[in-house]
Amino acid sequence: MEDVIKKLKKIEQEAIAAIKASSSQGDLEGVKVKYLGRKGRLTAFLRELKNIPSEERPIVGKTANEIKEHLKRQLELKIQELKQLEQNENLAVIDITLPGRRAYFGGTWHPITQTLREICDVFLHMGFEIAEGPDVELDYYNFEALNIPPHHPARDMQDTFYISPKVVLRTHTSSIQSRIMEKQPPPIRVIAPGAVYRCDADVSHTPMFHQVEGLLVDKDISFAHLKGVLTAFMEAIFDKDIGVRFRPSFFPFTEPSAEMDISCIICGGKGCRVCKGTGWLEILGCGMVDPAVFEKVGYDPERWTGFAFGLGVERIAMLKYGINDIRLFFENHLRFLKQF
Ligand code: DAH
Repeated sequence: MEDVIKKLKKIEQEAIAAIKASSSQGDLEGVKVKYLGRKGRLTAFLRELKNIPSEERPIVGKTANEIKEHLKRQLELKIQELKQLEQNENLAVIDITLPGRRAYFGGTWHPITQTLREICDVFLHMGFEIAEGPDVELDYYNFEALNIPPHHPARDMQDTFYISPKVVLRTHTSSIQSRIMEKQPPPIRVIAPGAVYRCDADVSHTPMFHQVEGLLVDKDISFAHLKGVLTAFMEAIFDKDIGVRFRPSFFPFTEPSAEMDISCIICGGKGCRVCKGTGWLEILGCGMVDPAVFEKVGYDPERWTGFAFGLGVERIAMLKYGINDIRLFFENHLRFLKQF
């Protein structure tokens, strides 16, 4: 019996040595199979118990089972030890002195709001003040006060959202002009940003968009002042030298009226898809305030002159950021908005 126990102890020692020598889970798995597996040495030994004299069997069996349990425990301990080692190694490659990753704070100003603010900033620096008026406007301020008589085509139901026969959603920020002039005497130097509404929708029109109106009234104001202010504005907002031209046009509330073009900021005037090969981009409407508008607010047209202009915010934003579909501003997909 002594011999048998000795043999068992030897197997145990070998197994323990093999466990100690293991340096990976794979090694341990091998040891487990070799000693405790179905064809392992200890298992084989236990199978041979039947050849041992029956009076010795209980002791040998007990010893063998104790060794089996002992080996299992040792294997488990070694597995834990290896796991710990692995974790420590992982920790060693984490450089805790690295700066943290910046969290993503998703909110930014909408590109239209950004552009609107930039536009206002340029005029504020030139000494203009900001004025506001209602989106839901009297027909009077949107049309009549601006010398747009009752049957003028601009009142066409197709363009104007009527709330009642005398109340509209303003179709332009020009509606603010007479409101300002009724409230204060000249000199006046204001811009009026805001949303405007027209029943129209395609790649370059949305039923709601934004304009910035400008109005300056003083003594001896000429078209030269208008040109100077608007040229300086374009160069500031597009941040480069820009060619400009003024084409004669017609608006009921200005005389003379003009449309201002800038040299195409995409191709520099050579001609491209955006400027339709002309090298020029229509950018805003403007003119000298019509005496009829002054008379309606009680300003003496012999004494005061002034200029006005109205520009589209979306149009400026599209050119600034190279956007070719106005509807992108209002669909508000995050993939689009995150770029600004
Ligand atoms: N209100 C015009 C429009 O929406 C733009 C405009 C033209 C405004 C000439 C003005 C102006 O103040 O003088 O198309």
